Amino acid sequence: MGAFVQPLLTWFRLQGRQLPWRQSYDPYHVWISEIMLQQTQMERGVAYFLRWVRRFADVQAVAAASEQEILKYWEGLGYYARARNLHRAAREMAAHFGGRVPCDYQTLLSLPGIGPYTAAAIASVAGQQDVAVVDANVLRLFARLFDIARPVSERQCRAEVETLAAGHLPVGQARAYNQALMDLGGLICTPKRPRCTDCPIAAWCLARQRGTVSVRPLPGKRRAPVYLTRVAALIVADGRLFLQQRPAAAVWGGLWEFPGGELVEGDSPSTALPGKVLAACGLSVEIRQTIPPVSHQYTHHRVTLHGFICRIRAGGPRQPNCPDAAAWQWVALADLHRFPFPAGPRKLLAAVRQGLAAESC
Ligand code: ADE
Repeated sequence: MGAFVQPLLTWFRLQGRQLPWRQSYDPYHVWISEIMLQQTQMERGVAYFLRWVRRFADVQAVAAASEQEILKYWEGLGYYARARNLHRAAREMAAHFGGRVPCDYQTLLSLPGIGPYTAAAIASVAGQQDVAVVDANVLRLFARLFDIARPVSERQCRAEVETLAAGHLPVGQARAYNQALMDLGGLICTPKRPRCTDCPIAAWCLARQRGTVSVRPLPGKRRAPVYLTRVAALIVADGRLFLQQRPAAAVWGGLWEFPGGELVEGDSPSTALPGKVLAACGLSVEIRQTIPPVSHQYTHHRVTLHGFICRIRAGGPRQPNCPDAAAWQWVALADLHRFPFPAGPRKLLAAVRQGLAAESC
């Protein structure tokens, strides 16, 4: 155990975060929080966690829910494969583990959506097994503490940090040690403007001694952003809105959206829309109202989405045919809240509601 470990543990006891799943360390709570916190800011994760456990009290409640409801409670968190895997894992836990979240590292690895990071987090935080956790916060903290001059995206950098984290783990105290490292990384040893003067282990920090804190960790290669323009039709007929469901294997699998498609450079959104809609769902539409474009991003994609309130063209085909969708449905406005949407369609919906008030069809 390195000399920095004791001050780290003392700091955690006095100044670690107060988080809802840290009250009882119920394995179910720890599991849900760990999946939610991947790619999610702490404050947002806590809000989603509290809403989630109010609706789904335990593994059985998750296992018994429909995928649509699971996705609805995940709506806005992004990376929806996490929610679908969590649902599958809950069903496996209900079928094979007596409705409980296992706390053994190897057993956890066999479950959908649980990789080495999540297995280590649950096994140590809920199960108190002596396994070290390395997430982005821990990587950054160790890269500074040991002044590691490799890009964080390199496998060797991660391997080096995993060895260091495991090597300094105090026997029998993995729960406190791992959470202390994650909290210190999130609260003090932050990516920008780290608060070194408040750091309980600054005396042991090699980057601080060598003046390299601001250049540690070395950044990895970032993917260049890809800019996309899409169109979507909010087709209204008899007070209902046409929705189609994305196929399970696609991005946003299982979520619902409006028919449309991607434009190529030079396409005019309003001119291209009817052809895209016809190809997507077999309906021939005409535009009634233009919605101001919305933008959203996912991974390295930056999307501008042009939405149009439409109606079905008189004499055109009325029977939907959606070759690439998992399902389609005409949905009454009062039922829209049951459907999970990706960010783009969700942003358009506020405009739909306003638009429909003025819509005569
Ligand atoms: N981020 C992800 N998991 C965490 C945990 N258990 N404690 C603090 N930050 C975290």
